[in-house]
Amino acid sequence: MKSSPQVTVIGAGYVGLVTATLLAEAGIKTHILDLASPKIKTIKRGRAPFFEPGLDELVAKTIKNNRLLATTSYRQAVPSSEIIFCCVGTPDKKDGSSNLGYVHKALRTAAGLAADGVVFVQKSTVPAGTGQSLIKTINKMAPGLQFSYVSNPEFLREGSAITDSRHPDRVVLGGDSPAAIRRVAGLYRLITKPGAKYLQTSLESAELIKVTANAFLALKISFANSIAKLAGQTGADIKSVMDGVGLDKRIGRAFLNAGRGYGGGCFPKDVAGLIAAAAQSGADMTIMESVVKVNNSMPNYVVKRLSDQLGAKTGQLVAVLGLSFKAGTSDSRRSPAVAISNLLADCGYRVTTYDPKAVIANRQLKTAVKRLPNLPAALKGVAAVVVATDWPEFVNLDWSNVKGQMAGDLVLDAMNCLDDAAVTKAGLRYTGIGR
Ligand code: UGA
Repeated sequence: MKSSPQVTVIGAGYVGLVTATLLAEAGIKTHILDLASPKIKTIKRGRAPFFEPGLDELVAKTIKNNRLLATTSYRQAVPSSEIIFCCVGTPDKKDGSSNLGYVHKALRTAAGLAADGVVFVQKSTVPAGTGQSLIKTINKMAPGLQFSYVSNPEFLREGSAITDSRHPDRVVLGGDSPAAIRRVAGLYRLITKPGAKYLQTSLESAELIKVTANAFLALKISFANSIAKLAGQTGADIKSVMDGVGLDKRIGRAFLNAGRGYGGGCFPKDVAGLIAAAAQSGADMTIMESVVKVNNSMPNYVVKRLSDQLGAKTGQLVAVLGLSFKAGTSDSRRSPAVAISNLLADCGYRVTTYDPKAVIANRQLKTAVKRLPNLPAALKGVAAVVVATDWPEFVNLDWSNVKGQMAGDLVLDAMNCLDDAAVTKAGLRYTGIGR
């Protein structure tokens, strides 16, 4: 590998922009390419087009030192790039299967402009078998082009994307060109801290590792939520139960936090994609169908817990704290917090919400749900508070102060993230999920 290859990263989302800025920070001249010109304009001004801790600073630094080049033009970026990362979206279609249209289009366009020897690296989440069909697409688009194709699934989480990328549990590289895999691994060694594990597999195995990892994490969450429903009935506390279970090294404590269920741009889509892929190939995936069923039941479960305690008197005011799908991100895609707010409105409650960062279109919220610009406004005169996203500013609330602003006294901790003793000490009624 030459010492400083030019790289193009297609798609300026969480995965693409974080990868591109880290490569640029490591000294690699990196094009970040996206067809959405408002995004590219923002990046050129030295800012990230979405909230992700630390990313604004990285974009500013790498734009300033000219290592990161933002563009909407394939022609400007691709011909001089030796390695091209594909990080475009693969949203799910109505039937749950993955829409691979953006991936095919990006690689077709890049293939038409790429130079011999180029390595296409797939970071978008795609069903197993997609790589082989993309190789055919590239061959058709650019007959005679000498290229390699590597599947390199991404495991970063929104909210901790930069740290995750610097300290990955593993870097998975799938494909049948050892030389191409070595070149991509060489790039990763520049951005990952020493000690990262590299796993080399076939193309199909790398593709399936990604969806399987997300599916298993989703399964852990739905499993914890199923046990939480039982714990709630028996008087056990799900947090203690999972602490005890998770101490078993074969199981582990991570992703066993019960609450209002998972959301975001990944788990719901990837689980749906796995179920659709299994259906197509005739493999049984009832296990994941159950995971989805449990997850879909959780916002209703939260609302039922609230209405059981507040009574059915319509028009009562309830504050939902949090709208993003988890703390640390402005992303509200498929957020259970949004679902809870809307379900409360459907049940006849008037709802106020507050989130420090969530980006959400008004049409996603029912008219009885009002988004307010600060916490005091959201809490004023409410009968109950539902904590639906575990932002630190909610976790660390001064509950005596909160009580002073509320009309009622009910606190529903839909993330099991609060100190229940502190809430009760303030004279409020605490309810969690499975506690
Ligand atoms: C997830 C995976 O964790 C990443 O490894 C993967 O790279 C990414 O998807 C992706 O495919 O791009 P992300 O969606 O950013 O990352 O967020 P997570 O931290 O995994 O949380 C997902 C959802 O599960 C959130 O709504 C969170 O509140 C919920 N969750 C998480 C629980 O309800 N309980 C838990 O114990 C953990």
